[in-house]
Amino acid sequence: MRKVAVIGAGNVGASAVYYIAKSNIADVVMVDVVEGLPQAKALDFLHASPSVGCRVRIVGTNDYAQIADSDVVVHTAGIARKPGMDRMDLLKTNVNIAKSAAQNIKRYAPNAIVIAVANPLDVIAMAMLRETGFPKERVVGMAGILDSTRFRYFIAERLGVLASDVDAMVLGGHGDTMVPVARYTRVAGFPLSELLGGEEITALSDRTRTGGGEIVNYLKTGSAYYAPAASTAKMVEAIITDEKCVAPASAYLEGEFGYENIFLGVPVVLGKSGVERILELELSADEKSALDNSADHVAQGVKDLDSVS
Ligand code: LAC
Repeated sequence: MRKVAVIGAGNVGASAVYYIAKSNIADVVMVDVVEGLPQAKALDFLHASPSVGCRVRIVGTNDYAQIADSDVVVHTAGIARKPGMDRMDLLKTNVNIAKSAAQNIKRYAPNAIVIAVANPLDVIAMAMLRETGFPKERVVGMAGILDSTRFRYFIAERLGVLASDVDAMVLGGHGDTMVPVARYTRVAGFPLSELLGGEEITALSDRTRTGGGEIVNYLKTGSAYYAPAASTAKMVEAIITDEKCVAPASAYLEGEFGYENIFLGVPVVLGKSGVERILELELSADEKSALDNSADHVAQGVKDLDSVS
């Protein structure tokens, strides 16, 4: 049985454990600094296992040593947004948490593939890459699948069709500047532009870009977790089972799409080595300028990261 460690037993971390365990993807170890929290949630999941048919081992612990030899480590630990906050506002606190997690990952799970989930996601992925010293293909940020599934759901809801029949591509940083690419979005193979007019597509793209914020505004005390966790579990499964699935994810770029030294949401192939390939799509001038704007926003976060260091 393969092993996955989830760092952070908050809403996103615990929900990710739930999805991973329920699908019997791998044994799971959930680590958190709060005493009793990961233990309680692990035990609660285990109590549910007879009902949900879960056959994997689930451990909750405060001891990082228990992540030893994990194949994948998911980093969710950190504070979440409240209304009025941008994901970048979380940077200082969450970077310091990520750095200490990275040291432990390097020490106990030196061969793992790291999935960065805590926000600001693309900047935290950079901190993880630097702090672990892992090769670039072994550090990947989550949000492309999440942002694309939001777009897929909004399109499906509007058209009254099955959400899994909608294939969508959202590129860029995980922030309000993300770039839903309608031209690469299809419904059972049909281009979206055959089914919806330009204004409607723009409205659905806008709702996608602020999809996380819509939930923050409802919740008031935190941010979304079921969809972020489900997207994370999909990535874990793709890596553990060497799926070679094509999905947008935050990958370290060295010239791809014209960007360097930055994590940005791009289409990748996910398999047992992590980010096995980056697929360079052709972008129109408008799409490229929207992606430039998103990359600028992430680059500013990386500058802030340098000042936290
Ligand atoms: C979201 C947060 C978790 O997009 O970034 O819901």
